[in-house]
Amino acid sequence: MTQEAPSPNFPEPGLRVVVSEFGETPLDAIEHHTSLEPMPAPDPATLDARDVVIAVRSASVGWVDLLMTSGQYQHMPKPPYCPGLEYSGIVAWRGPAARESVSVGDSVLVDGFLAGPRSLGNYQQYGGFASYAVAPAEAVHRIPGGLSFDQACNLLGNYETAYHCLVTRGALQPGETVLIHGASGATGLAAVQLAKLLGATVIATGRTQSKLDAVLSEGADHAVLATDADGSTRRFSEDVKALTGGRGVDVVYDGVGGEISLESLRAVRFGARFLIVGWASTPFVARGKGLRGAPNANVLPTNLLLMKGLDVLGCPTAISTAQDPHSRPPRLAQILAWADAGELRPHVSHRFPLSEYREAMRAKWSGEVTGGCVLRPA
Ligand SMILES: NC(=O)c1ccc[n+]([C@@H]2O[C@H](COP(=O)([O-])OP(=O)(O)OC[C@H]3O[C@@H](n4cnc5c(N)ncnc54)[C@H](OP(=O)(O)O)[C@@H]3O)[C@@H](O)[C@H]2O)c1
Repeated sequence: MTQEAPSPNFPEPGLRVVVSEFGETPLDAIEHHTSLEPMPAPDPATLDARDVVIAVRSASVGWVDLLMTSGQYQHMPKPPYCPGLEYSGIVAWRGPAARESVSVGDSVLVDGFLAGPRSLGNYQQYGGFASYAVAPAEAVHRIPGGLSFDQACNLLGNYETAYHCLVTRGALQPGETVLIHGASGATGLAAVQLAKLLGATVIATGRTQSKLDAVLSEGADHAVLATDADGSTRRFSEDVKALTGGRGVDVVYDGVGGEISLESLRAVRFGARFLIVGWASTPFVARGKGLRGAPNANVLPTNLLLMKGLDVLGCPTAISTAQDPHSRPPRLAQILAWADAGELRPHVSHRFPLSEYREAMRAKWSGEVTGGCVLRPA
């Protein structure tokens, strides 16, 4: 194995976003504790022989990237750090011991479990909100299925979450009906596509008809508004019951939490599986720096769980993967294979240059985005 000469893509000095300290909230962090700073060109002499340098072309602006800026995530770097859990780009340099399958000039996506701010160890310092990043060659995959850079950096985390929830935990079967909350979100839309691929009927919920129309065009069978114009939760269980002939759904995929979880309990059949994915509607319940306004925002009544014979399943993808690392390779291989076959294609509604990182992060946090939002450093 030989070290290849620097490519035409080898990064010049560039720029990176830096979070200097955690904010009280993501919006506070974006306004007061982030900046765009110069980034010196990488020096291969300082890198490991198995490293690669990626000239970043697109970085996903994800919910977890936002949460991290207020100190609310289980695995994260200490500030100052560069955000950007998942990114894609071009291999600009490979170390002499990097695996043979990685070549300079390859278009790749980078595995956020093994590199970037969610990873543990040396590569945590290299986020995707930057001109370049360094990753171990094991973290790099060729972009499958002709996906664009923007789509590629929205693949792994979102579809792995959907897979862990719907397949590993939910055991979703062909012919079953699944109610997907937050269906316009990055993980929600991945869940819609995956549930359809598995042969299920999808009832999607959201707060705005325009975003639900986009979810329908991505394959959902039905769309139901979960809230009224004033933001209060609707009796959407009546619509769901009507769509299921009065029976209720087999599975709930709940990435929203709060009142929407409670209303969902009226929309399920006896013995349904209730997948706890997240709580996008009550984001300030975790520990860390940040407001702590709603410690009891996500409480399910045990009487209804009992009387409906429900299986409530917590679905923390990253934590479960850390507990059982063997669960990951088959999941990863299946998602890459489906993407390669054109069966899974991330939807990206918003694109920003790196210099507009604040606008991008605000757009994501305020719910303007359908599916993915990306930053393009070059
Ligand atoms: N379990 C896991 O392993 C795992 C992994 C990744 C993420 N998550 C969690 O899953 C949740 C969704 O993540 P994501 O990446 O899909 O986020 P996202 O892209 O921001 O999407 C969240 C969706 O939730 C809906 N939503 C947001 N605030 C709401 C509110 N107040 N009331 C009702 N609906 C609301 C929005 O849909 P509308 O605007 O259409 O209503 C939005 O599209 C988060 O809580 C995240 O932490 C869990």
